[in-house]
Amino acid sequence: MNSPERVNSPERVNSPERINSLERVNSPERINSPERINSPERINSPELTQELEAFLHCPTPAAWLDWALQNQALLLIDHANCEKKAASNAMGLMYRHVAHTDLLTKMSQLAREELLHFEQVVGLMAERGISYQRIGPSRYAAGLREHMRTDRREQALTDSLIVGAIVEARSCERFARLAPLLDAQLGKFYVSLLRSEARHYKDYLTLAAQYTDEDIEPRVQHFLAVEKQLIESEDDEFRFHSGVPARAAGE
Ligand SMILES: [Fe+2]
Ligand SMILES: [Fe+2]
Repeated sequence: MNSPERVNSPERVNSPERINSLERVNSPERINSPERINSPERINSPELTQELEAFLHCPTPAAWLDWALQNQALLLIDHANCEKKAASNAMGLMYRHVAHTDLLTKMSQLAREELLHFEQVVGLMAERGISYQRIGPSRYAAGLREHMRTDRREQALTDSLIVGAIVEARSCERFARLAPLLDAQLGKFYVSLLRSEARHYKDYLTLAAQYTDEDIEPRVQHFLAVEKQLIESEDDEFRFHSGVPARAAGE
């Protein structure tokens, strides 16, 4: 049953086990998992936003929300890019840390979910006649990465996982804040993303603590302070994770 031929056989690609495992991402059991953060009640309550606000050092500024509403095509294009980058980042960790089984499992699941989100965003863009263009990244991820330790492998992993958690948490917070301001279709889509993004941030933090003996809290707080600065300071270009528009800074 588990011979190499069977593992690589074409049937296995579409085997019931495989189909079930793919469906599991959005299965009702998963949605109703014991983790309260993933429950439907929680998604529809302000508690999720409150929890993210308690974790992050600042809420998304109102000036960014206005900027997003005025740049909805760009918002979707950069959102698509963020989903693609999130999948690619997770796969990068899988390539670099092959001995960490829990990391491989969580990151593989996360990458599949991010690619599913990517397909959903691209589908929405096509429906809306928004053409997918190449745009440069915001300063956000590079601004966080700049503070990552790179000398020791374990420290580099801890910092990458913490940065992953913060990016997921901010994305989730922005989806939650944007949802009620958008049209019904886009608002509903953004609410549907909250569940997985909230789980992703928790998974990254759990893995960060799991693969080090270091107390991760000082590093988490350090990166959150850097993140607050990136979110609240002036930015020249609108992106999903940009700061406030230059003209609104100081108002
Ligand atoms: Fe996502
Ligand atoms: Fe995510």
